[in-house]
Amino acid sequence: MQFSRFLQLFFFWSHLHAVSAFDQYLLRKCNTAGFCKRNRQYAENIQRNNTHPSYYVIDESSIRYDGNENSFHANVIKNIPSGIKLELPFKLQFLQDGNVVRFSIDEIRSYKDYLPKVLNQRRYNETSKWAFADSPSAVPITERKKVENKIVIGSNSSDSRIELFLDSFLINVYWKNQLSMVVNERSLLNYEHLRSKDENFKNLLPEESDFDMFHDSFNYSRSDTMPFGPESVSLDFTFNEFENLYGLPEHPASFRIEETIGGEPYRLFAADVPRYDVGTRMPTYGNIPFVIGNNEKSAAGLFWVNAADTWIDFKYPGGKAQSHWMSETGIIDVVMFLADTPMEITDKYTNLTGRPTLPKEAAIGHHQSRWNYYNESDVMNVDSNMEKGEFPYDIIWLDLDYTDEKKFFTWKPDAFPNPARLLKRLGDLGRGLVVLIDPHLKKDYYYSNTVVKNDVAIKNRTGQTFFGTCWPGVSVWIDTFSELGGKVWGNFYRNFVNGTKNLGIWNDMDEPSVFDGIETTAPKNSIHAGGFEHRAVHNVYSLTVHQATYNGLANIFNGTTRPFVLTRSHFAGSQRTAGTWTGDNVASWNYLQISIPMVLSSNVAGMSFTGADIAGFLDNPEDELIIRWYQAGLWYPFFRAHAQNETRRREPFLFKDPMRSYVRNAIQLRYHLLPTFYTAFFKSNLNGSPIMKPMIFEKPKHTNFAAVDDQFYVGDSGILVKPIVKKNTSFTQIQVADGVYYDFHNLKPQKIASKNGTSDIKYIGIAAGLDKIPILLEGGHIITKRESYRKSSVFYRNDPYTLVVAPDAFGNACGDLYADDGETWAHKSGQYLYSVFSFQDFRCLMGNTANVPSNHEAAGNTLIDKIVIAIGNNNASIGDTVKINSGDQQYTVNVDKSSPYEAIITHPMVYANETWQIYF
Ligand code: NOJ
Repeated sequence: MQFSRFLQLFFFWSHLHAVSAFDQYLLRKCNTAGFCKRNRQYAENIQRNNTHPSYYVIDESSIRYDGNENSFHANVIKNIPSGIKLELPFKLQFLQDGNVVRFSIDEIRSYKDYLPKVLNQRRYNETSKWAFADSPSAVPITERKKVENKIVIGSNSSDSRIELFLDSFLINVYWKNQLSMVVNERSLLNYEHLRSKDENFKNLLPEESDFDMFHDSFNYSRSDTMPFGPESVSLDFTFNEFENLYGLPEHPASFRIEETIGGEPYRLFAADVPRYDVGTRMPTYGNIPFVIGNNEKSAAGLFWVNAADTWIDFKYPGGKAQSHWMSETGIIDVVMFLADTPMEITDKYTNLTGRPTLPKEAAIGHHQSRWNYYNESDVMNVDSNMEKGEFPYDIIWLDLDYTDEKKFFTWKPDAFPNPARLLKRLGDLGRGLVVLIDPHLKKDYYYSNTVVKNDVAIKNRTGQTFFGTCWPGVSVWIDTFSELGGKVWGNFYRNFVNGTKNLGIWNDMDEPSVFDGIETTAPKNSIHAGGFEHRAVHNVYSLTVHQATYNGLANIFNGTTRPFVLTRSHFAGSQRTAGTWTGDNVASWNYLQISIPMVLSSNVAGMSFTGADIAGFLDNPEDELIIRWYQAGLWYPFFRAHAQNETRRREPFLFKDPMRSYVRNAIQLRYHLLPTFYTAFFKSNLNGSPIMKPMIFEKPKHTNFAAVDDQFYVGDSGILVKPIVKKNTSFTQIQVADGVYYDFHNLKPQKIASKNGTSDIKYIGIAAGLDKIPILLEGGHIITKRESYRKSSVFYRNDPYTLVVAPDAFGNACGDLYADDGETWAHKSGQYLYSVFSFQDFRCLMGNTANVPSNHEAAGNTLIDKIVIAIGNNNASIGDTVKINSGDQQYTVNVDKSSPYEAIITHPMVYANETWQIYF
């Protein structure tokens, strides 16, 4: 790159974080990304000219079954009219319960002398190694027969079956005998095999374009040597009878995936994009190539296991959803999930890619961050003012400038002369600290020298250490793709953390962000361990970094505390070791609005521990926006206030009343509901379930709910929230399915359903002045909360619980509670409490335990000191006293019915870790 160009880009990136709007010209559009334009063009031509036989067929003589690994194998033959035939090995397996179908198509490449010796010549096929939690085992293929021109394959243990057509590469996927998905229905399979530039002409299909096959004409990226030439893979998938797709984080766009015809495809490409454009399909920091669709009867999911630059087109041509996936390189590796409901799809997906981590309890509290708290006394001042103002928080954050000249793993000596003292002071107050560590290391100091010495830096295209520019100026980047790279990185934390349990780590800029790089990132032809180009692994780089951070911390803490790691970029599988947030948003109403669909999309794709910067990272929010943002943000699974360095200070203690108390109420509400949130995190850890849960997940039969992304449920709790995201709003309507709903604040019944129920969506109007968050509690649920004010999560552990019972139209409700020590891994060996509460017929409330820890301390205080029952229209069903059976005790307690909407039992003297019954 010319030096002037370099300076321009560097100047641009370092200042974009400060002032400008995001400038789209720095990122490619599909028609300036060679492989995207070529594949779109191929798709157009092949669909127009679909009369000739398929270029891709199955070689029947190559079919074999491998009984050891329970797999089906065959060669896909690519027939090029010039006479060239290529064999592409195809493999298919049924995973898990047999309702998960995985297949791959690889390329066998003969050795090419003309390729640089530093490169591994095979296609990168290890994305699954990073994305999957373990290597999945397959179930036996028991049904296999040839019927006409297709092979039918199934597994006895499952409801799924596939038909593979021999004369084209087409796969019908059946679920419970219904056609659920079709692979390559539109013949868009395109496998750009390896060929030299000289022989390219013989290797092209008539429908192919050769646009930018051997060089990149996009502005500033002409230095990409593209040694392999064209090597993209693309394939289409039809979701039969599904008209809604969702997932595919992270895009600043609606929850339901939009049609892309005539516009840009969705792009997955980790990029540093401060002030990303709201409502677009542009790439941002996180990239999870996973979508889900559902209809009234069933659901399906698709995971495209590829970490290269990827673009996806979508279309809903009526009665189905069509998708076309295009990746710059890598192999085709696909997993299809089949089930009755979308929740089961996410369960299967997170069974494969790993369950979201169960964070320590402090990490699900409120986080106070800013770029930057200047020194130790600044931190301690913020801390004491938060306490004085009764704004609970658990963790305070130090951004970039705590470091000595932006050298990570060091502290600015005059500002933070004694980090251990700071951590101890905070720890004694029941608080934690998180500090920022990016994967770039300033050239020429101990840590970067160690990386270079151990040969674990990202390399340039000639195999030498890659140098680029980021915050500290010229830097090297850790390459955590090798085992050694991961260890070196993990060990760096040893001295830095020094065993201090209340220190967490924030891996930022890990796309990786490279200020002087094309599209803000590392050159695609830079090289990682094993000789693989960055091009092939780009989107999974961050996962390798934050996973190494997590493993390093886990070794250091040695079971005494669960490491807390936040990462900006993320990929499928990141949920196992980190939380994330939506990056550099702006303090304006449209960013508040879009944060909800963004967090919802991440939640259905396993990345449940997600939030957005409150109240917008860039610019200065107006007061009303701050209030509304806290009222919305308290529901983000990751709840952090953060602001850019040029913004005005906005810690909540600086606000005047009534704004101050509105914000305080919002933060305190999060803490009152910590038991409910922690239970939701526990379930997310168990089966991947969303913590901020989209309507369609709770009511999958109401398919119109797929398009509703401005309201959500909190886990399985029945709490339904519609935050206000528009200025000057004092009233809103919440969309609900048939049922009973209570106003969360006073339990006033809002709607009583007919007992027969209907499938229509209805609206509940609700007042929403600045002091009010519109929240409903759906009948049929019992929630747990703690009602006092305490300054951080650890102090809530000694408080008793309140149960809130919200009966459905039949007078029934149920709920659950998870509690553990909030800190260690002891829950993994059974030291946790899991209790289930049920309310029947307005006559009996019962507490049952599913697991009680042998260590009584483990679950904190388990006393239930208050039970509130929403009485709706059934006032008459509740008498003035209740009879309680608890252990061998039987006693009577009075019921307070002074409110028209609730009956309250105070001091029932029952415990969440015991079995008891209350009769009305
Ligand atoms: C970019 C991050 O997105 C932002 O949150 C952080 O404050 C800055 N980097 C500075 O470290």
